[in-house]
Amino acid sequence: MVELADATRCRLLAALEMHELTVGELAAGLRLPQSTASRHLKILADQSWVTSRAEGTSRWYRRNPELPADMVQLWTFVRGAMAQTPATAQDTARIEAIVAARRARSETYFATASAEWDSLRTELFGTRADLGAMMALLDPSWTVGDLGCGTGSLAEAIAPHVRRVHAVDASPAMLTAATARLTPYTNVTVAEGSLEHLPLADRCLDVAVLMLVLHHVPNPVKALQEVHRVLKPHGRLLITDMRTHVHDRFREQMGHVWLGFDAGSLDGWLRDAGFSGTRYVPLPVDPNAQGPALFSCTATMMPKPAFVVA
Ligand SMILES: C[S@@+](CC[C@H](N)C(=O)[O-])C[C@H]1O[C@@H](n2cnc3c(N)ncnc32)[C@H](O)[C@@H]1O
Repeated sequence: MVELADATRCRLLAALEMHELTVGELAAGLRLPQSTASRHLKILADQSWVTSRAEGTSRWYRRNPELPADMVQLWTFVRGAMAQTPATAQDTARIEAIVAARRARSETYFATASAEWDSLRTELFGTRADLGAMMALLDPSWTVGDLGCGTGSLAEAIAPHVRRVHAVDASPAMLTAATARLTPYTNVTVAEGSLEHLPLADRCLDVAVLMLVLHHVPNPVKALQEVHRVLKPHGRLLITDMRTHVHDRFREQMGHVWLGFDAGSLDGWLRDAGFSGTRYVPLPVDPNAQGPALFSCTATMMPKPAFVVA
């Protein structure tokens, strides 16, 4: 363990005990030529005094957090002797200043970037990054039905996070697009069927999602009863659709049967179909969206009575 017989290596190790640092930061903080810092770091790394990781074009060093006991003992002794010198105090002050400046760069950036952050976030990560991330909160043991799946965009978002997705739609053209999109996901089945006659077994779903489909259904209670049939006893239902609106032309253009839904009508239909605990939440309006505002409505299966008195 002759590596610590060199004062420069001891200074490097003391700095790397405080913070994870790059060679450039170490050279600046300890007032060393970068080549000298690199040379001594290599010796320390070869003897396991320091570890490093690559991050982009930088390499970050720190004191090995898992030093064997005899190395810890030697370093504690050397470190104690160094702590009393003015040179060590100056090294410490410069290294702390470098780390503070690094932190300040990010703080300064966010202090000035709040106005542009939303658009930069979209530019870097797209508009659905946060919603995509929230999918990880889904229970991985769930079987989910995307009922009225259309081209399968929701099923695609859910599939990586749950055990199985059943994507069902009445339109063969939509299903062709959904099948092409969902082929890479081995846990997704795509099937033709209607909400009124689902091609699914009784009590097979943990969650049923009706995303922008209920406004096409002439008899919502009948469809909701069918959804109730395929849900497990603890199952949950999510309906996302349009809030009541006045765009009458949607009937002609897209075959809408209902001009959106209010909380009261949905709650009544859901109760009639055997659901309880209806929660209707208006969704924030997207400033770029041209269509009516949306809501999300969740409900659970109505609890069965523990026993029935004849
Ligand atoms: C507006 S699209 C929405 C598709 C998808 N859920 C989405 O959010 O992108 C409505 C879909 O519901 C389907 N659909 C309409 N009535 C249906 C019914 N009674 N049973 C099953 N699917 C139906 C249509 O074929 C269409 O694919």
